[in-house]
Amino acid sequence: MTTLAPTGAKSQLGSTTKKSFGKTPDGQPVDLYVLTNKNGSEVSITNYGGTVVSLKVPDRSGKIADVVLGYDNVEGYAEGKSYFGAIVGRYGNRIGHAQFVLDGKTYTLAKNNGENSLHGGVNGFNKAVWTAKTLSSKDGQSLELSYLSKDGEEGFPGNLKVTVIYTLTDDNALRIEYSATTDKKTVVNLTNHSYFNLAGQGSGDILGHLLTIEADKFTPVDSGLIPTGELRDVVDTPFDFRKPTAIGARINQDDQQLKLGGGYDHNLVLRRPAGSGESLAARVVEATTGRVMEVWTTEPGVQFYTGNFLDGKSAGKGGATYPKRSAFCLETQHFPDSPNQPKFPSVVLNPGQRYHTVTTYKFSVEK
Ligand code: GLA
Repeated sequence: MTTLAPTGAKSQLGSTTKKSFGKTPDGQPVDLYVLTNKNGSEVSITNYGGTVVSLKVPDRSGKIADVVLGYDNVEGYAEGKSYFGAIVGRYGNRIGHAQFVLDGKTYTLAKNNGENSLHGGVNGFNKAVWTAKTLSSKDGQSLELSYLSKDGEEGFPGNLKVTVIYTLTDDNALRIEYSATTDKKTVVNLTNHSYFNLAGQGSGDILGHLLTIEADKFTPVDSGLIPTGELRDVVDTPFDFRKPTAIGARINQDDQQLKLGGGYDHNLVLRRPAGSGESLAARVVEATTGRVMEVWTTEPGVQFYTGNFLDGKSAGKGGATYPKRSAFCLETQHFPDSPNQPKFPSVVLNPGQRYHTVTTYKFSVEK
């Protein structure tokens, strides 16, 4: 294990260490970076997929628990199909019929989700080995990850240079800053796919977590989970999380959209005030531990997913099992299928422009 920065008492300053996380199936060595802040919170990130492997934060009595699902080693991530903790790209979420048109040219992607493309294709950014560099940051410990997605990779046009900076701040927030540039017109939609359970990973279902989402509308989907194009009011639907509501309160209601998703697996349209900074997207409270997580973002949407496809079969960290609905995701993003939906906010990136988005998961406690 190597201590990278800074030296000094860990309990007062925070630190970053690096250790081996094993080898990818094709033999590339990858590492695990452990960032600790001055309060003893800790995030572990591997440069395989830019994945958040663990995230340890205190409860109301100061007890630390790991609040994200994951695997103990790189093999788990290489084999896994759930995108635990990963950076998802080049296009997070679905593209209908696995194709889109830019300047009259049709681009064809792999159909890895029924008829559609999901999360960047067969070998998305979650399977890439990223270049890692520790950075000094004024408010915590940072890790910069970069990746060059080549022109034509997974069918997308343009050499896309991507940088993701993770910062664990001294006030228990995990900030993720995504940047990208291209040499050809392309589409980009990056997110992080962490699965949260604020009572601790492997500790049962998340149906009792209280959720608020700053959204008045959502994007209803068809049977392939592709948005129909409608922005539907959440009023009188199980998608109304404008006031704190238990995730499980309405999840089994006889509702067509919930049935299509097998639970919640939908994009909500965030109520974003004008301006370019981050705004509050969602707040989650777990009453037994008092842990609170707020999600702040510059993105217009968030995919709320209740782990409907988890089946408890593969072994998670420390032997934990992850049954259906044992975690939730709040994937900040542009809307699914935006390349084919002219009325949705644009995901097109041109040469000379810089893609730049920020999402922060802020942890605190309630008494
Ligand atoms: C996203 C999708 C889900 C599912 C998960 C990964 O949240 O919307 O349908 O594919 O990723 O299992």
